[in-house]
Amino acid sequence: MTGMLRNFAIGALALALAACGQGGAQNDDWPDYDGPDTTHFSPLAEINTGNAGQLGLAWHHDIDVGGQSLTAPVAVDGVLYYAAGDSHVFALDAATGKQLWDFDSHTRERAGVTLRGAWGSRGIAYANGKVFTGTLDGRLIAIDAKSGKEVWSAQTTTPGDQRYITGAPWVYGDKVVIGHGGADYAPVRGYVTAYDQASGKQAWRFYTTPGDPAKGFEDEAMKMAAKTWTGEWWKFGGGATVWNAMAYDPKYNRLYIGTGNGSPWNHKIRSPGGGDNLFVCSIVALDADTGKYLWHYQVNPGESWDFNADMDIELVDGFDVNGQKHDVLMNAPKNGFFYVIDRKDGKLLSAKPFVPTTWASSIDLKTGRPVENPEARYPGGKAAIVYPSPFGAHNIEAMSYNPASGLVYIPAMDQGRVYVDPPGKLSDWKYKDGQRISNGQGTPPPDLKPRAPTSFLLAWNPRTQSEAWRIPMIGPRGGGGTATTGGGLLLQGRGSGEFTVLDANSGKLLWQFDAQTAVMAQPITYRAGGKQYIAVVAGSRFATAQGLPGGEWNYRTQQWRVLAFALGGTDKLPPAQKPDLTIPDDPKFRVDPALVRLGAEAYADRCAGCHGANAASGGSAPDLLRSLVPLDVPTFTQLVKEGPLLSRGMPAFGEVDERTLAGIAHYLRSRAREVAAATKPVVPVDDKGQ
Ligand code: HEC
Repeated sequence: MTGMLRNFAIGALALALAACGQGGAQNDDWPDYDGPDTTHFSPLAEINTGNAGQLGLAWHHDIDVGGQSLTAPVAVDGVLYYAAGDSHVFALDAATGKQLWDFDSHTRERAGVTLRGAWGSRGIAYANGKVFTGTLDGRLIAIDAKSGKEVWSAQTTTPGDQRYITGAPWVYGDKVVIGHGGADYAPVRGYVTAYDQASGKQAWRFYTTPGDPAKGFEDEAMKMAAKTWTGEWWKFGGGATVWNAMAYDPKYNRLYIGTGNGSPWNHKIRSPGGGDNLFVCSIVALDADTGKYLWHYQVNPGESWDFNADMDIELVDGFDVNGQKHDVLMNAPKNGFFYVIDRKDGKLLSAKPFVPTTWASSIDLKTGRPVENPEARYPGGKAAIVYPSPFGAHNIEAMSYNPASGLVYIPAMDQGRVYVDPPGKLSDWKYKDGQRISNGQGTPPPDLKPRAPTSFLLAWNPRTQSEAWRIPMIGPRGGGGTATTGGGLLLQGRGSGEFTVLDANSGKLLWQFDAQTAVMAQPITYRAGGKQYIAVVAGSRFATAQGLPGGEWNYRTQQWRVLAFALGGTDKLPPAQKPDLTIPDDPKFRVDPALVRLGAEAYADRCAGCHGANAASGGSAPDLLRSLVPLDVPTFTQLVKEGPLLSRGMPAFGEVDERTLAGIAHYLRSRAREVAAATKPVVPVDDKGQ
């Protein structure tokens, strides 16, 4: 045998081995956030519409590290990896749930008070024997998948600059790419950074907004982008952070990144002479090897509502538009339009609203630009109700696409918000310090109120750009992320506590499971030990379950878990503890209205992000209306200022002075009494246990 032939034969053997499952046949795994391809679709069909009724719980794994839990696991070669709380990554045997290792990045303890506006990880990635995770303090960490030990760590942000990572890293070839969030809080200029998977050495960085022209631009793309900004935009950072989705395109060897809102939200402040503000709210195509700009499509030129293009970017080849085949990219961003874009050149092929939208009536296919309603820009200090709201028509809960049904599944919301300029001269506007959301908005006039928010699972036909069917959800944000399979299944959890398996064609409910808590993360499916599993993290970040007939979830009594299902599964959850919904009070506590006002503002700035707007937690963090801690001044002071619960996701607010702290306690008392008076605490009629 000649050397060449022998090499060929060995190569062929390796290929054959890879194809029969050695080293991880791709179809068995769910290696990163968006699944085996980019559409949250797995071809696995062992569990299908014919037998889904025989599903049962195969195993469960309790999550006990505090914080939020809204993370998508990955599964490779029979191991399931997931991120939990603020800093842990766990590896479990994907067939049994047995824990293999627990990695702790000690994020909260390291970063302490600088991590104010942030929450837990939404996902991780696996490639070439390493698990990659981003941290709230801006590190990208490579963990050895076998041992659970750190291989390298790269600081992708400047410590103290208010950037934080909650999104998943994206992996392809020998690279791993990471973005970050933070543009709602501080003058943040967005970028993504690519690192070498093996060494952690930086390969390239692409900025999403132009910096200070006096310092020179990094590249031609920044020079072009700078022409679309006015005033001294660089002082505001500009925003456009890539905090959620990207997509790697093997066919064109490109990376598509989705960019976020402008910073601050108000366009008139950020760019006073107008302009599109590239690359805010855009999908930007980059050369995957070099990070060089190729093209962009901007969904919201001159964005002014906290809209973005950060939601899932899903790629479909040979997609039929008016009888012609295109390699397309699909995106359902916050602004409520569903976009189909030609990947070749970034040209818009079609766009239609999938929820009521009032900021624009349509998108002009010739120019690719929205036909806007001028009043929606709240001009000249005139407040306006705009649909959708900053929560979006679609947010981080993943949408998925099933090639057989031809449908995309969007956890959708119909809700609006009032936008208004802040008081005073716009040119005097400044960022607030610390935790506070800093967005260039004023207080809405009391008489202007959007209609009650609703949420639903929307099956959308991207070819006809029309609705196929919908299923209403409970509450303003009741639908969890979705995944779909070759077995014709659509998988989704709900804020109301069910995990559901639906027929992907009709939406018919085939099977459901009582998860005993909100299930907002997106599910995955994989094969381990020759058997197909469906897995999901049961937990939440938002007050999703408000409006539940039985009351609300309670952070202290509900257990967050990884749940894995298989045909014939016989595992059982222990019975759920009943949430205690009584509101304790101290009748001697005299509420001082001046302190309530001070406390309401401080609470909204510093606490609402986790403990819920209007102090209604909905279970994503402890319910402070039902907590005894704020009634006990020394304990409350210590807990808030010194950070004893730091490692469990409760930050330390050392800078909050005693009067403000008292204000928060008075505000919580006044809200507790309002709620107690308005609703007799409802105790669920039947135990939600199995
Ligand atoms: C980043 C999210 C986050 C923010 C912001 C936050 N908290 Fe917390 N808080 C938590 C979590 C998570 C816990 C529960 C930790 C655990 O599991 O023990 C908690 C626990 C608490 C508790 C204990 C409640 C009980 O009865 O167990 C109090 C009191 C509290 N927080 C007050 C505050 C106040 C006041 C603020 C604003 C100044 C605030 N928190 C901001 C996440 C947050």
